[in-house]
Amino acid sequence: MKATPVLAATPPMGWNSWNWFAGKVTQDDVKAAADLIVSSGMRDAGYVYINIDDTWEGKRDEQGVLHTNEKFPDMKGLADYVHSKGLKLGIYSGPGDLTCAKYPASLDHEQQDADLYASWGIDYLKYDLCGFRTKMRAEAPNDIPAQDKMMKDAYMKMYQALKKTGRPIVYSLCQYGDDAVWQWGAEVGGNLWRTTGDVKENFSSIALIANTNIGLSKYAGPGHWNDPDMLEVGNGNLTPDENRAHMGMWAMLAAPLLAGNNLTKLTPEVTAILTNKEVIAIDQDALGRQAERVYQEGPIQIWSRPLADGGVALAVINFGEDENFMRGIGLHLKEAGVKPGMKARDVWAAKDLGKIEDGYKHSVKRHSMLLLRFSK
Ligand code: GAL
Repeated sequence: MKATPVLAATPPMGWNSWNWFAGKVTQDDVKAAADLIVSSGMRDAGYVYINIDDTWEGKRDEQGVLHTNEKFPDMKGLADYVHSKGLKLGIYSGPGDLTCAKYPASLDHEQQDADLYASWGIDYLKYDLCGFRTKMRAEAPNDIPAQDKMMKDAYMKMYQALKKTGRPIVYSLCQYGDDAVWQWGAEVGGNLWRTTGDVKENFSSIALIANTNIGLSKYAGPGHWNDPDMLEVGNGNLTPDENRAHMGMWAMLAAPLLAGNNLTKLTPEVTAILTNKEVIAIDQDALGRQAERVYQEGPIQIWSRPLADGGVALAVINFGEDENFMRGIGLHLKEAGVKPGMKARDVWAAKDLGKIEDGYKHSVKRHSMLLLRFSK
């Protein structure tokens, strides 16, 4: 008998509607995103989940069955369309009575909703705490441990409902890292869990999230990932350096790569960053070991992660605000786990560097990253 494949054996990749469309997303936008993810080459680079975030929900009928709202007239048809393109469809709900955008969520309808998703052919569920917080606070005022227990039970309840459908549905926990979710997210069936609040389209937010993920590598691995939130690559005024540093950092973090940009306005430059095969290969490395920060000196941090082929990915990132290029920082190869004699490749520059020493001359601009892959 064949073993059941691990769901989310590598961090899920795809696109999510929230960062760009927020509450305005429609079925046609999602269809267009599916078309564009194929024509841009993103699907073939690994981006397969097309995830509808909040605001698709309509009303419950007398039997409690949830209907879509007028923006999504035919969810089953949409799922069939997305599947016909070799993609998967994701959806959004939460354990409360209402979602963050105040649409109906799954409280007391968990199995009914899970069955509905399965009947449509949904492949991924993002389950967002939001409305449930009100309930936790009302039912266990000032009793944080009791509130935490309610939250864990609520996440477990939906996991069991999803499992009962028999359909493999990636389960994405979204509760912003509360109660150190990385310690128990996998126990309640999570394939990924948000570690922080919402990412924003500026570099301070990206830096804050990266720094908030220090020390979390031991909780990630095949089937269960820390989620530093969706990508902002291509959004706002992020510069090319910032887009590369963001993408590279998320790859080091073994993060789910969910593009959150407007695919109808993809530039060749943003496409090249999002589809960079070597960067994606680091993110998707089969060993599934998230990077840790191994060295910090002022605004410069060095992160490293071991790779399945015995090599190491090493990133030098400049979080500083000063326009000066930062020079003179060694690579700290020993702390990074790079063995003597390994050969380096500059990933963003796509250039083999051969054997390099700790004092390898490099300079890292403000908000940019040197990404090296070392192999035996
Ligand atoms: C937030 C969540 C965002 C988005 C939004 C939708 O709580 O963190 O990623 O899903 O709700 O209302």
